[in-house]
Amino acid sequence: MRTTALGSQGLTVSRQGFGAMGMSAYYGTADEAESVATLNRAVDLGVTFIDTAEAYGPFENEKLIARALGARRAEIVLATKFATDFDQEGAARRLDGRPEHVRRAVERSLRHLGTDVIDLYYLHRVDPGVPIEDTVGAMAELVAAGKVRGIGLSEASAATIRRAHATHPLTAVQSELSLFSQDLLTNGVKDALDELGIGLVAFSPLGRGFLSGAIRSVDDLAPDDARRGLPRFSPENIAANLALVDKVRDLAAARGATAGQIALAWATAQGAVPIPGTKRRTYLEENAAADVIDLTPDELRALADAVPVEAVTGARDTPSGLAATGR
Ligand SMILES: NC(=O)c1ccc[n+]([C@@H]2O[C@H](COP(=O)([O-])OP(=O)(O)OC[C@H]3O[C@@H](n4cnc5c(N)ncnc54)[C@H](OP(=O)(O)O)[C@@H]3O)[C@@H](O)[C@H]2O)c1
Repeated sequence: MRTTALGSQGLTVSRQGFGAMGMSAYYGTADEAESVATLNRAVDLGVTFIDTAEAYGPFENEKLIARALGARRAEIVLATKFATDFDQEGAARRLDGRPEHVRRAVERSLRHLGTDVIDLYYLHRVDPGVPIEDTVGAMAELVAAGKVRGIGLSEASAATIRRAHATHPLTAVQSELSLFSQDLLTNGVKDALDELGIGLVAFSPLGRGFLSGAIRSVDDLAPDDARRGLPRFSPENIAANLALVDKVRDLAAARGATAGQIALAWATAQGAVPIPGTKRRTYLEENAAADVIDLTPDELRALADAVPVEAVTGARDTPSGLAATGR
């Protein structure tokens, strides 16, 4: 696995990261032993940029990372996120970007992660009730205190990114980016990141699994899978979007790759570091192997023709989820 600079604040990460969310939340149940094996296999393969969040579980995903990779802490670049306040039992209270919550949340994440420093600490969602300068100012104090090495935002608008970066340099912004979700490439976010030297981390780079081609029907999702509540995963939209995935699969076959690998290579070609998630080693190995694929300009044009983004049907998130993204 090749490595790359993420942003211009001195952080180097594997060109592909790993998103651990699905091991503890949203996408049905996971097997603990396979999760631990998958996380270790990721590090063995050089996929050392590990993404989690306090909200996944809540708390459970951070604790899983500590159980699985605690002994290998020095080998990984550990990224986590905070935003919502939770009580000790994990019940969500409210989105809270106040400085006192920033200071409280980091201590809890450090404890759950079993580490004394977080490599990249993101604000998971911007609290519209708190000036971003206040939240980021408190995050900057964590950098000064040595508890956090770099800071970032998740799903923020270009205007918010600019204000945050003026308060303290951001290492990275994490937002949804895939062949099926490209709005940040045209809404000013990517331009702002490039101008300011901020890295881009692409979450859900496989379109929450859809771009792998493995999801052919809503019945392929567990009854408690949260994707059932997303517009893009309604039975009609799955049926319509499958035609697009099949075109990606055909283009992928021409160079002996899978649709998912081409989706990941596409994200890399946009200048992003993708963090695909999976609960199992087989998928991880397939995804990591995408690192050798450098798409040519002709291949990128063919993909743009095959998957015009306006042809993708169904919003990527619920109306309330989209409203919380602030972009
Ligand atoms: N900042 C945010 O607000 C935010 C939001 C969403 C996600 N994230 C981060 O981004 C990470 C990745 O996003 P994501 O998990 O939503 O979506 P994703 O990476 O696009 O897709 C994950 C899904 O794809 C499946 N999958 C992975 N590789 C596959 C393969 N080779 N073949 C077939 N299926 C495959 C996984 O299956 P199995 O799980 O069954 O193995 C899982 O259901 C998360 O883990 C999280 O760290 C951040």
